Amino acid sequence: MKRVDLIQEIVNKRGFKRYLEIGTYKGESFFPINCKYKVAVDPQFNIPLKRKFKWIVKNANNLFNKYFELTSDVFFEKNGKFASKYRPQVVFVDGLHTFKASLLDVLNSMKYIDTDGIIVMHDCMPPNRAASTYANSFKEAIAMKLEGWTGEWTGDVWKTIVYLKQKYGEKLNVCVLDTDYGLGYIEKNSLIEDFKIDEVIFKKVNQLTYDDLLNDTSLINLVDKNHVNELL
Ligand SMILES: C[S@@+](CC[C@H](N)C(=O)[O-])C[C@H]1O[C@@H](n2cnc3c(N)ncnc32)[C@H](O)[C@@H]1O
Repeated sequence: MKRVDLIQEIVNKRGFKRYLEIGTYKGESFFPINCKYKVAVDPQFNIPLKRKFKWIVKNANNLFNKYFELTSDVFFEKNGKFASKYRPQVVFVDGLHTFKASLLDVLNSMKYIDTDGIIVMHDCMPPNRAASTYANSFKEAIAMKLEGWTGEWTGDVWKTIVYLKQKYGEKLNVCVLDTDYGLGYIEKNSLIEDFKIDEVIFKKVNQLTYDDLLNDTSLINLVDKNHVNELL
């Protein structure tokens, strides 16, 4: 099961109509999703017009897509009104691959998502140490010429899952499906109104290393991909 399969299963099983994607690039995850109203946010889309048309022909839902060529923090800051009116039901977080940026993406999504909405995160289980390295962009990670580099980069996004578990406990249903670089699954169990970063928890989680994760994958509640059948 890949990210598109999981998102599509969520949309189908829950009957969702509104999809928000943070970090779209060429649209490999965005275009195939069958959902009525789709919104994409990325500061640098790589989608030629021809590709957009091709996907409208393949999947007519793409006719109604909205594109925001912005960083996610600017999108949420400047388009709060749009986001609260739109109220996404499923959000896919796949933007900047750092702990801080992915955490802010999840917290902002939690603010605007529909009551029974679900957040999916990509890259929550790094395939190797080099892939888990902190960097501010894929280019920066490549430039580091890391030992064991395989061209894969998840950054330290996994720490967002650890943070969410520690900060919200039973208020959130959080796990990582062990497939496609770790697919984070986040669903509210009860009302949450505190979306500010707790700096003490953040600092503590930020000190964790890749070895800590390998030694204890319960930190991110890593589960078999078939666990999805119990979630949905
Ligand atoms: C891994 S790609 C997304 C891939 C896509 N979701 C897929 O599955 O094919 C990450 C994208 O995040 C975008 N990005 C980087 N910084 C961002 C930010 N601050 N806010 C939103 N998107 C960002 C990049 O421009 C890039 O296109």
